[in-house]
Amino acid sequence: MGGLFLLFTFATTNLTSGCFEHERAALLRFKHNLSDPSGRLSSWNGNNCCNWQGVDCNNATGYVTRLDLGTDSSDENPIPEFIGSLTKLRYLNLSSMGFSGIVPHSIGNLSNLRVLDLSNMELVVDEFSWFSSLLSLKSLDLSGAERC
Ligand SMILES: *[C@@H]1O[C@H](CO)[C@@H](O)[C@H](O)[C@H]1NC(C)=O
Ligand SMILES: *[C@@H]1O[C@H](CO)[C@@H](O)[C@H](O)[C@H]1NC(C)=O
Ligand SMILES: *[C@@H]1O[C@H](CO)[C@@H](O)[C@H](O)[C@H]1NC(C)=O
Ligand SMILES: *[C@@H]1O[C@H](CO)[C@@H](O)[C@H](O)[C@H]1NC(C)=O
Repeated sequence: MGGLFLLFTFATTNLTSGCFEHERAALLRFKHNLSDPSGRLSSWNGNNCCNWQGVDCNNATGYVTRLDLGTDSSDENPIPEFIGSLTKLRYLNLSSMGFSGIVPHSIGNLSNLRVLDLSNMELVVDEFSWFSSLLSLKSLDLSGAERC
């Protein structure tokens, strides 16, 4: 239902720049799964997800290339799998966001990723094979994560 509604609002809006609907939907699902005590994600509404705080898009392609949520959330949920659908991400920083559990393998889909910061969280890396597809990676911070 929610998906249908989003699709509808997208279809009736004349977007001239940035923000693909599937990426916007993924970000909204992501927001839905976060507790947001500081209201940092209060700008996450409206059609142009490229204007949302912590989200940057490539001006030419319109894809989300940077997701920087900084610190100060008290979430204890796993990092949602659908983060892997933001395929053009180059920078992903969820440091200290309070996620816990297994690092989703779908992050291996983010083949454009250059910077991945998942530090200071109680994460578990259950296997490393999916890292091998992160060919563009220049900086990886998993400090705080456990290997199991
Ligand atoms: C993208 O466009 C915005 C607004 O027009 C501008 O502020 C920003 O510098 C541009 N970014 C790049 C990488 O060109
Ligand atoms: C990620 O965000 C945190 C908090 O804002 C910052 O301290 C850290 O330097 C960032 N990491 C990277 C790799 O940019
Ligand atoms: C999203 O949050 C709900 C509870 O708020 C939880 O049951 C669900 O497992 C979470 N999903 C993901 C993918 O983290
Ligand atoms: C992302 O990766 C998962 C698991 O690694 C895979 O099953 C899935 O098909 C991939 N999804 C996309 C959109 O590439």
